[in-house]
Amino acid sequence: MILVTGGAGFIGANFVLDWLAQSDEGLINLDKLTYAGNRENLAALAGDPRHIFVHGDIGDRQLTSRLLSQHQPRAIINFAAESHVDRSIHGPEDFIQTNIVGTFHLLEAVRGYWSSLRDDARQGFRFLHVSTDEVYGSLAREEAAFSETHRYEPNSPYSASKAASDHLVRAYHHTYGLPVLTTNCSNNYGPYHFPEKLIPLMIVNALAGKPLPVYGDGQQIRDWLYVRDHCSAIRRVLDAGRPGETYNVGGWNEKPNLEIVHTVCALLDELRPRADGKPYREQISYVTDRPGHDRRYAIDARKIERELGWKPAETFATGIRKTVQWYLENQDWVRNVQSGVYRAWVEKNYGARQP
Ligand code: NAD
Ligand code: DAU
Repeated sequence: MILVTGGAGFIGANFVLDWLAQSDEGLINLDKLTYAGNRENLAALAGDPRHIFVHGDIGDRQLTSRLLSQHQPRAIINFAAESHVDRSIHGPEDFIQTNIVGTFHLLEAVRGYWSSLRDDARQGFRFLHVSTDEVYGSLAREEAAFSETHRYEPNSPYSASKAASDHLVRAYHHTYGLPVLTTNCSNNYGPYHFPEKLIPLMIVNALAGKPLPVYGDGQQIRDWLYVRDHCSAIRRVLDAGRPGETYNVGGWNEKPNLEIVHTVCALLDELRPRADGKPYREQISYVTDRPGHDRRYAIDARKIERELGWKPAETFATGIRKTVQWYLENQDWVRNVQSGVYRAWVEKNYGARQP
């Protein structure tokens, strides 16, 4: 079996659901269930013996060591992290604790377990660390997309903490020979995306008749990838990636934020028109920019395509339509994640931003 961390979050839950839809290999899902972790994302697996959910922290070395020796997984996929840039600006400490200290403790537990394995199991073992393109910093409009050799230049507490975790993972390979793989992926979107991030926030606010808060001039560029394509890339890297290597994963879909918001509005105009017949884009409101806002990310995904034959299956047009439809069909899920804690976050992040 495999061990997945953070498998109740957005990408982790999509990964777990896809994994068990395609394979009978079981998995242990270790998740702390922070505000971003939601067992409802995994409701389809209720009673499935292939899925063992464990509520716990990657930083709890006793717990992870026990899980490893009890279940003897052949691989670990580390999704667990604090993942939201704006939250890292308001309060970086959780990011340091989970993304850096937590990853360190997990690596130590894994090193102990891996060292105890027989030769063949040691060689076949993999630790796959899921990281982000944000570790590379920000690109000017004319600069080439991030390749795997681009220098690390993280700009937010979030990206700095992810960069630190990437370095730790790399060092455990270089120093101890731990067979690690790292993926650095661009912006994901799709089902189960928590509505603090751009795309789900815009869908949810639009339907609720609330303002659509665009930071700054809305011309920041992100490279969007449908989440299930990210999951297929991770499976491919786990199967065939070379230990010690990093693979950039992206959708070749660079778009300014304002265009994303316009696309979401146009889809909602078509699929769920406003009662007053007016276009949703009338709800757009320009608000104070994110401090230190990275201007552009773009992923050069040629290495994973060349070496491992991976390419995304969705275009942005197909993926965003599926996403908007999913939110329209899962309004209960949306209501359930909009707890008091969620509302407090919205007030904290948007209350002080001037329109
Ligand atoms: P998310 O915030 O939706 O989910 C994170 C999950 O990790 C949650 O279920 C949470 O409960 C769990 N978690 C947090 N701290 C934990 C801890 N200490 N121990 C155990 N579990 C813990 O995040 P996501 O968007 O699904 O991102 C998953 C991973 O992918 C992260 O490492 C992130 O940096 C990376 N990533 C995300 C994107 C993106 O666009 N969302 C893109 C590239 C890389
Ligand atoms: O690039 C990969 C990264 O993508 C991941 O590592 C992160 O975990 C993930 O959260 C995401 O980071 P971003 O900061 O790019 O995502 P976010 O959805 O927060 O914002 C996307 C863009 O939209 C960014 O330029 C900020 C802008 N934005 C965001 C919000 C929430 C707005 O204009 N208004 C908003 O209300």
